[in-house]
Formats: sequence, structure tokens, C-alpha cells
Amino acid sequence: MTARALSLAATEVRETLIARIRAQAAHVGVVGLGYVGLPFAVEKAKVGFPVTGIEQNSLRAAAINRGENYIPDVQDEELAQLVRDGRLRAVSTFDVVPELDVIVICVPTPLTKNLTPDLQYVEHVTREIARRLRPGQLISLESTTYPGTTDGVIRPILEASGLKVGVDFFLAHSPERVDPGNKRYTTKNTNKLVGATDPASREVALAFYSQTIQHVVLVSSAAAAELVKVFENTFRAVNIALVNELAMLCDRMGLNVWEVLDAAFTKPFGILPFYPGPGVGGHCIPIDPHYLEWKAKEVNFNTHFIALAGEINRKMPEFVREKALRVLNRLGVAPSRSRILVLGVAYKRDLGDYRESPAIEVVRLLRRDGANVVYHDPYVPVFREPDLEMASQLLSEELVAGADLVIITTDHSNIDYAWVVEHARYVFDTRNATRNVRHHREKITLL
Ligand SMILES: NC(=O)c1ccc[n+]([C@@H]2O[C@H](COP(=O)([O-])OP(=O)(O)OC[C@H]3O[C@@H](n4cnc5c(N)ncnc54)[C@H](O)[C@@H]3O)[C@@H](O)[C@H]2O)c1
Repeated sequence: MTARALSLAATEVRETLIARIRAQAAHVGVVGLGYVGLPFAVEKAKVGFPVTGIEQNSLRAAAINRGENYIPDVQDEELAQLVRDGRLRAVSTFDVVPELDVIVICVPTPLTKNLTPDLQYVEHVTREIARRLRPGQLISLESTTYPGTTDGVIRPILEASGLKVGVDFFLAHSPERVDPGNKRYTTKNTNKLVGATDPASREVALAFYSQTIQHVVLVSSAAAAELVKVFENTFRAVNIALVNELAMLCDRMGLNVWEVLDAAFTKPFGILPFYPGPGVGGHCIPIDPHYLEWKAKEVNFNTHFIALAGEINRKMPEFVREKALRVLNRLGVAPSRSRILVLGVAYKRDLGDYRESPAIEVVRLLRRDGANVVYHDPYVPVFREPDLEMASQLLSEELVAGADLVIITTDHSNIDYAWVVEHARYVFDTRNATRNVRHHREKITLL
């Protein structure tokens, strides 16, 4: 084919896909139906796209096909209806790839033990797609990662198929910004970033994301989109570290950090509210900044803020332990003879997600001191870590009163903290969950 014929063919491939997207006839595939992938799949199916999830966990795939939901941000009935209507299904094989027009990758991007990026899930999935890639498909990475992953890791694997990006297929990065549990900002009304390195991919990706998202923010490359996302999470990690450090300083100075912060946040400009706690958890804040830290080293650059924030935030469970031991000492209870009730092991309020949860580290540390630690979490009936497995206890008067110390590590909103304080011998509140408790304040120590 001549160069002109090739270019015409490429234009036709692109225009055909865009037309299918605009008509909502494009078949959308979502790889990884977790916290990010499942809400995304539901959102796309709701506007009319036929959606197939590729989920390696066959139990999860089977649950979807029975219309059963397992992600809190998804409405049970909405999912069930979409499955009944045949607009959403799940499979555990990549053999469906040729049937798909758009493939969105939402698999985990964890860290290795040495805090370096672990792209094994992304690479595995990309190889599976590459083996079945056909002209006219858009591949979009939603997983959070370091700048350069889409162009430097995914693109070469896909192009090894013999097809060319921007000509035969299209490649973009559109990082997911979902904030699990946030009722005000959801996938639909949160501005969506899109970056692609070649103009054709940018156009196709923009057409796709504009179908369901109120506002799409286009940046000039996939790497820019990747950096925006990791910067956003770094911004949070650094600011949380700043208030955590302030909490430790206030402890030394005998000041109440919550009073100081509440007063600081009355300033209507130049400050943003962040609150201290027992550390950071979840799949984003403790992990994503280290992706950037690692990548920066490649250009001989040290990201000091990231290193420092990580150090301070990782220190918080140890600080909580140390302050808890001080409280026990004041109560005249030896740690090794103490019974401690930890309230909340989820990393975040009103969620059942305990990945990287600092509360679990607090449990670990206090158990190491010989304390008899039990926990209650209305959202986490059981947690399983490689070294520790525990079950939530029923929150009874007996449980609360039987503990020498109750430590509030997650501020779930469906717990009656006044009732807890009333029945507890003593409470150590790391979240200021007892801020509205009027009585028995003499029994409370704040972080
Ligand atoms: N959870 C969040 O709040 C959040 C927010 C924004 C971005 N992110 C990013 O989104 C990505 C996904 O995170 P998540 O929280 O949805 O993870 P998750 O663990 O909840 O879901 C990932 C899903 O992918 C599946 N999976 C793993 N390997 C697979 C494979 N080879 N083939 C098919 N399915 C596979 C898993 O079984 C799981 O169901 C990560 O990069 C994360 O950093 C997460």
C-alpha cells in the first residue's frame, strides 16, 4: 500500500471506531472488576454500551453473572438489572478480546517489598490482549502508575503484535480518580483526565470518555496524565504527613492538635483541611507516591517530600502504640496484662477495605507488647493478613467495659461514640471521632 492509501485506511479505522462509540454500539471490555473496574463497567453499561468484564477471580465473575454486587460504590439493584438486561456480563478469559472495541485496564499496581513498582498485573494483562489484538481497538489504562508506563511498557508489548499505535489501534491513559465511599463525587461527576501520545489515540479516547463523564480534561501525553494522577495522591500523602507531624509535635507540647487544625481551617483561603490519624492506608496514598519516587531516580532526581511523607506516615502506628502504652501506664495496667479493644480496622470511614490499614499495624504492635487485642468493625467481619487473622467481636456493653482501653482507629459513622465512652474504662481516640461527645471527656485521650 502507498503512504496515502495507508493514511486513508488509518483514518477509516479511527472514524469507524469513533462512530461506534458515539452510537454507544462499541463493545466495552473492562479488565479487573474491583473497586475501580466494577463501578466503571456499571457506568458504561448504564448509558447503553454492551459491557464485558474480564475478571480472573472466577468467584467474582460468577457473582456478577448472578447479578450479585460486591463493591460498596455500586448499587445492588442497578447491577442486577444490567445483568438481567444482558448489558453487563463477566468472563474469566481473554478469548473475548477480539469481540471488544474498547478495552479498559483496571488491575492492581502494588509495590514490591522494596517499595518499587510491581507492574506484573498490567504486563500480564497487556500480553494477553496483545496476543488477540485486532485493528480498530482502543486500549486505555486506568490503573495508577508512574509516568512512562503507557508509552514505555504497554505500547511495546502491544506493538509486538505487528499493529501500530495511532494507525491500527489506539492507546491512552485515563487514571481513575474515584474516592470510594464519596457520595458527592462519583465516577460520573468527577472530571476525567485523558492523555495519549499520538493525536489519533487522543481523539478516540476523548470520544469514548466524553460519553459518560461530565467533563474530560485532555492533557498532551499519556505520561502527563500518569504524572497528574500520582501527583494528586502525593499531594494528599504530603499534607497528611504534615498534619501527622503536627499531631506528634502537639503531643510533646501538650496542645490539642484538633483544636489547632479546626481553628486553622477557619481561614477561608490559603489552607486546605487535612486531618491526622493512625497512618495512611488503602491502595493509593501509601503506594502511588513511591511509583513516582522510583521513576524519578531514573533521571537522577530525589523526591524528598515523598520520602519524608512516607517516613512520617509509616511511623504513625508506632506513635499510636507508644501513646497507648503511656495511657495504660497512667491507668496502672501493664501492657502484657492489658485487654485492648480496637474500634475499626478499615483504612477509611464507612468502608470495609482494610488493605494497608494502619489499624492492623497498631493491632500487630500491641500484640507484640503482649496485650490481648480484640477488634470490632461493622464493615470488616474478618481480616486475613499473611501473619494475622482475626474476627470482629460483637460490640456489646460487656466488650467495651471489659477492655482496659478502647482505641478508636477508624471513625465509622454508624458507631455511637457517646455510648462507647460511657461504658469504656478509657478511650484513646486517634480520629477525633468523639468530637461531639459531651459527657465523660475525662475518659478520653486524643491523638
Ligand atoms: N481503590 C481505589 O480507591 C482506587 C482509586 C483510584 C485508582 N485506583 C487504581 O486502580 C487500579 C485498580 O485498583 P482497585 O482498587 O480497583 O483494585 P482491586 O484489587 O479492587 O481490583 C482489581 C481486580 O483486578 C482483578 N485482576 C487482577 N489480575 C487480573 C488479571 N490478570 N486479569 C483479570 N483480572 C485481574 C482482581 O481479581 C480484582 O478483582 C490500581 O492501579 C489502583 O491504584 C484505585
